[in-house]
Amino acid sequence: MTFWSGRRVVLGVTGGIACYKSCMLARRLVEAGARVDVVLTRAAAEFVRPVTFEALTGRPVLTSLWEPGGALSHVRLGEGADVVVVAPATAHLIARMAQGIADDLLTTLLLATPAPILLAPAMNDEMFAADTTRANLAGLAARGVATVGPEIGALAEGPSERPGRMSEPASIMLAAERLLASTGSRLAGRRVVVTGGPTREPLDPVRVMTNRSSGRMGIALAEAAWARGAIVRLILGPGALAPHAGIEVERVETTAEMGAAVGRRLPQTDVLVMAAAPADYRTDDIAAVKRPRTGGTLHLSLAPTDDILAGTRSLRKPGAVIVGFALETGDALEKGRAKLAAKGLDLIVVNDALEPGAGFEVDTNRVVLLGSDGSSQTLALAGKREIADGILDAVETRLG
Ligand SMILES: Cc1cc2nc3c(=O)[nH]c(=O)nc-3n(C[C@H](O)[C@H](O)[C@H](O)COP(=O)(O)O)c2cc1C
Repeated sequence: MTFWSGRRVVLGVTGGIACYKSCMLARRLVEAGARVDVVLTRAAAEFVRPVTFEALTGRPVLTSLWEPGGALSHVRLGEGADVVVVAPATAHLIARMAQGIADDLLTTLLLATPAPILLAPAMNDEMFAADTTRANLAGLAARGVATVGPEIGALAEGPSERPGRMSEPASIMLAAERLLASTGSRLAGRRVVVTGGPTREPLDPVRVMTNRSSGRMGIALAEAAWARGAIVRLILGPGALAPHAGIEVERVETTAEMGAAVGRRLPQTDVLVMAAAPADYRTDDIAAVKRPRTGGTLHLSLAPTDDILAGTRSLRKPGAVIVGFALETGDALEKGRAKLAAKGLDLIVVNDALEPGAGFEVDTNRVVLLGSDGSSQTLALAGKREIADGILDAVETRLG
């Protein structure tokens, strides 16, 4: 079961070059369990033929108000939808919507639907910066139409440093989830800080000590909290992965930097989830220049790094829910229980790095949640996003 299982999505596709990414969006939504009805504008059908979406969704694709059998589909489709997503949304579609123009199936449906609407604008950066486009989007926002992106990045016509590029399918799905889920969540509007990834401690200007954490669990937690409507800050150690748009990311390098970043945020934080794997040791003996290998055996004395949770205990906002992680290699539950008590946590997520499919560098996890109230709950092996949702469900029951 995912958030999308059984949901009904109308995917409007308009005539922008980013149409090619809409095929992937349709595919992902179907894979996640949604029923997807695609509506193409005439211009969109010049870019991608309806048969492509028909094959991807297993459902008829509509392109015109006047199709045989399609009479009143502009009303029926929109009435039955949980959400209407328009991706890409061209400048032309945005302008027509802003004016209430209903001259084709998609614009008529957008005017008639009671479902929430999410637009993923995509266009040349000048077109997006144009006063007319800005004013049209502001008018739509004032009427409750949500948008995701556009983002800064390469456009079909070349590189750009201004917004115009359509958000990626995963970001669009996450934004749609936030639009639908946030009203029902206790995390909506709450400040959530998540730490993720490893930290690394320098040995000399080129070498570091670190661990195998990829940041996947922290990113999954940040995205899951964001999808529930929280204001999320992800304090993320070094690594190649990054979360989807909308989540504020603060990059840190060392355990001390991570501790300082958590400390700065903690007084305003409603939920802190410490999913990072900070380096436990550092050396004071950091060489100013690269140590040569020819120097023979290298002896380094390592000192423990500061305990982030212990160091920030006095800064916790009253009533805040504090969640720690215990990644162990054997006797995980016992060690987790001890850590829960010693660090004054509300919840600890225990997993065993030696178990197949759990721990670092994999997409799945299997964890046990131990609560300060003596509770214990096992979350069976699942994707990290599902595990993240299980953890956040437990957090919500503890939020005042
Ligand atoms: C190759 C090509 C790429 C285009 N890309 C975009 C685009 O990314 N965004 C946009 O707003 N318009 C784009 N246009 C212009 C639209 O296709 C045009 O405004 C059209 O009327 C949009 O119709 P629709 O909004 O009904 O789909 C592009 C046109 C061409 C020929």
